[in-house]
Amino acid sequence: MSNIVHDYVEEYIRELIIEKDEFLKVLREYAEQNNVPIVHKEVAQFLKVLIKSNNIKRILEVGTAIGYSAILMAKAVGNDCEIVTIERDEKMYALALENIKRANLQDNIKVIKGDALEVLDTIDGKFDMIFIDGAKGHYSEMLNKISKLLKLNGIVFADNVLFRGMVCSNELLIRRKITIVKRMRKYLKELSESNIYETVILPVGDGVALSTKIKED
Ligand SMILES: C[S@@+](CC[C@H](N)C(=O)[O-])C[C@H]1O[C@@H](n2cnc3c(N)ncnc32)[C@H](O)[C@@H]1O
Repeated sequence: MSNIVHDYVEEYIRELIIEKDEFLKVLREYAEQNNVPIVHKEVAQFLKVLIKSNNIKRILEVGTAIGYSAILMAKAVGNDCEIVTIERDEKMYALALENIKRANLQDNIKVIKGDALEVLDTIDGKFDMIFIDGAKGHYSEMLNKISKLLKLNGIVFADNVLFRGMVCSNELLIRRKITIVKRMRKYLKELSESNIYETVILPVGDGVALSTKIKED
């Protein structure tokens, strides 16, 4: 239960998503059995459609975990894809490298170990899409760092922005999540008021925010 949309809506949509890729199916099962948080099925599907329909080739990801979304995005791009993904957890980093090798995508996906808040300052070039799926309390700080790495008309795709509904309603808010929720609200407000980004917030999965860069900052 995500507290974002009615359970019956979520269940119905999920039942319609058929994972045709055997490798990704096994990775999702592993993540579920081992409590590794990966993108919800409908968010994964959204990413695939977005990538395929927008000719997205070069992607930067914050938060690799076991490499599920990086592999999914690489497969959605196809041959000439280039993905750079950042993970700070040693164990996750090692698992991601292993899975990416098993998927034979080691030439297309580069995993950088470290805290994205530091690593982002060392990355060069421009990306077609930046997928933010790391620590929820730092999206706003990250936005400042990733802006220069995004092409004009590129997309920032941020996951979990409604955080189990807590971002939308104080009635759902639990005490120990107050700081994260406040920071997430700040991120969404900044984007909504920005002259550089045009943003849509959608109640998909745990909430996603899609922002396209409409002018250089
Ligand atoms: C939700 S999981 C990522 C799931 C992955 N994108 C997927 O869908 O397959 C979040 C990951 O981000 C990592 N993370 C959190 N904050 C980070 C940071 N500041 N820098 C790098 N990695 C971070 C965590 O260790 C965790 O593995």
